[in-house]
Amino acid sequence: MEGSGADTDGNEFKNAKEMWMEQVGDTTKRTQWYREGVGYWQAVEASVNGVLGGYGHVSDGDILGSEVFLKSILAERFPLAGKDRPLVALDCGSGIGRVTKNLLIRYFNEVDLLEPVSHFLEAARESLAPENNGASDLHKATNFFCVPLQEFTPDAGRYDVIWVQWCIGHLTDEDFISFFKRAKLGLKAGGIFVLKENIARSGFILDKEDRSITRSDTYYKDLFNQCGLYPFKSRDQKGFPEELFPVKMYALTTEVPRRISRARREQINRPGVIK
Ligand SMILES: C[S@@+](CC[C@H](N)C(=O)[O-])C[C@H]1O[C@@H](n2cnc3c(N)ncnc32)[C@H](O)[C@@H]1O
Repeated sequence: MEGSGADTDGNEFKNAKEMWMEQVGDTTKRTQWYREGVGYWQAVEASVNGVLGGYGHVSDGDILGSEVFLKSILAERFPLAGKDRPLVALDCGSGIGRVTKNLLIRYFNEVDLLEPVSHFLEAARESLAPENNGASDLHKATNFFCVPLQEFTPDAGRYDVIWVQWCIGHLTDEDFISFFKRAKLGLKAGGIFVLKENIARSGFILDKEDRSITRSDTYYKDLFNQCGLYPFKSRDQKGFPEELFPVKMYALTTEVPRRISRARREQINRPGVIK
């Protein structure tokens, strides 16, 4: 990946390769990267404000933006949503289950949650329990996986949607690519990924405190390409405070987008004749 970047102390890197070499260039450094990333979240309170870094008040706007995006995808990709067969989603880096509780569980019959920080996952399990009005017979949280993404392989063909929000920055490029390649097999035919992330204006920014990186749109597109994933829809999150990174949602498919032939395009564009 070309393009320079910087860390939160203002140190600059010529390119991502140089940064990754410095951060995770050998097994010890890589282990430390992931230990410190999870370690950061282990010290955070299990609350909406905690998982959103003190910006708990953006949660409603985030969920609303995600819901509009999800509805447009469901209408396009799964018009019979839930009527022909149950819909199943995976919430990656789920934290306390904020996205599942406020969004996914309303649209999917089953949601699995993956989160490496056990006290977050336990808070999710509790809030999604039927006795806390977190589930019904038709919409429930099924599995709670306490593992990091870089170590997870989903069951083949289980998911319609794999939702990855505000956690992929913890993965190195190498693990990003290998996670999505493995996770593709976890999708049903026609299934999709949704990635919702902070976006750097260019290159990347390394956060030394929580061991994560914020990538630019170009950086993401390069990684999608390497994963064999195609963005078929994307949307910017609106209404967040100015001081935050811009946030983007990508819907990604494993299918090569169909190109409309020139002849067909001209046919579509030709004005019709009203008789
Ligand atoms: C900013 S919080 C977002 C939580 C949730 N996605 C949300 O939107 O409410 C980041 C989450 O990523 C999780 N995380 C950190 N490293 C991870 C890894 N290697 N794999 C999966 N999740 C990770 C953290 O434990 C934390 O729950």
